[in-house]
Parts: sequence; structure tokens; C-alpha cells
Amino acid sequence: MFDGVAKRYDLTNTVISAGQDRYWRWATRKALALRPGERVLDLAAGTGVSTAEFIKSGAWCVATDFSQGMLAAGRFREVPMVAGDATALPFADGVFDAVTISYGLRNVSDPDAGLRELLRVTKPGGRLVIAEFSTPVFGPFRTLYMEYLMKALPRVARSVSSNPDAYVYLAESIRAWPNQPQLALRIADAGWSAVKWRNLTGGIVALHRAYKLD
Ligand SMILES: C[S@@+](CC[C@H](N)C(=O)[O-])C[C@H]1O[C@@H](n2cnc3c(N)ncnc32)[C@H](O)[C@@H]1O
Repeated sequence: MFDGVAKRYDLTNTVISAGQDRYWRWATRKALALRPGERVLDLAAGTGVSTAEFIKSGAWCVATDFSQGMLAAGRFREVPMVAGDATALPFADGVFDAVTISYGLRNVSDPDAGLRELLRVTKPGGRLVIAEFSTPVFGPFRTLYMEYLMKALPRVARSVSSNPDAYVYLAESIRAWPNQPQLALRIADAGWSAVKWRNLTGGIVALHRAYKLD
């Protein structure tokens, strides 16, 4: 599916999020608080659009994804790329200062296995930031947003994406995804500590942050 959306992936994101994607990426970089020289894994990086944002910090970041089509569509970005599956990462134990995944965990067939793999490759004391679609907290806004997701979004995607059916999946997968506290519990169950989250755009997106104990 992701090979099929790769060609117009970056543009489609900006259109369907009405430009909010740029703010969400900036906020994710701030939450990571990266320092120059740190080693960072951007998992499910797709075209490397998220990785390119994190590189602005001066940290060394590698983009990993299992869709060769997505990685190829982002080859113009000067970002190191390694093909790999989130549930069996091609990295040694404890090599990254920080690990992050933007709009990817929901798509991993076994998200709990993905969370455990992220923990394995993180150094003791290292951190995790997850950017993922979540549940708007204010009831009337949530109702409006769900209408947009299920009705308007697939129509908007039809006019811009190279694979509009993927955006029906996007809407359905967001609806089925755990809300903020439920995801926090899953992260803690995978072995991460001090899990906290912050809502962006009223909870359309949530940033979950956690640490690997020393
Ligand atoms: C919505 S895209 C996110 C891309 C990018 N991180 C961003 O912020 O736009 C989700 C990505 O997850 C990848 N993905 C899904 N399951 C995966 C897995 N098991 N291992 C690695 N990547 C996976 C897909 O190939 C796709 O590129």
C-alpha cells in the first residue's frame, strides 16, 4: 500500500492536514530535544520527510522503513536510509540516543513488538517520541473531526493522492487506534518508563514521550 502512495505522499499530507503537518513535525523535533552528535532512529520514516526535520537539530538521524517505494521516493533528501521491518530491526542493542516514529506505529502489524524493538535498540537513559493520530479531547470538535475523517478526507485524497483507497484505510485506522491514555499504557507495557503525552491541534495528534531506564 505504501509503495502505491509514495509518489505524492508528502503533498497529500500537506493537503489533507491543511498544512498542520509542518507544525506537527516541528513540535515532534522539539519534543525529541536532540543535541548535535546524538544518534537517532526515525522508524517508519517513509520518504524521510520526518527525518529531514530532525536533522535540522544537528543530530545524526537514520530513516528506516520497510517500503522500498517510500524510501525511493525520498531519495532526493540527503538522509541516510536503511530498509528494515519495525518488528525485527536491523540494528544492534542499545545504539541510539533517541528513537522516534511519526504516523507509523498505527501501521505496524504488531505495534507492541515494534515498541519492544524500539526499546531494544535504545541506549539506557535514551528516549522515545511517538507522533501519532489520536482522539480530539473536546466532544463537539471530536464529532466534527470524525465527520471529516470518514466523509471528506477520502474525497480530498481522491483529488491529490496516487492511491486514494489508502486514505479510506487511513481514516479507518485512526478511528480504531487507542486514545492517549490507552496508548500510554501500551508503551509502558512494552517496558518504557515515565510515559507522558501532549496533545497537538486539540488531540488530532498526540506526542507520547518515554525513557529507557538506565
Ligand atoms: C504514514 S507513513 C509515515 C512516514 C513518515 N514517518 C511521516 O512522518 O510522514 C507510515 C510508514 O510506516 C511504514 N511501515 C509500516 N509498517 C512497517 C514496518 N513493520 N516496518 C517498517 N516500516 C513500516 C510504511 O511503509 C510507511 O512508510
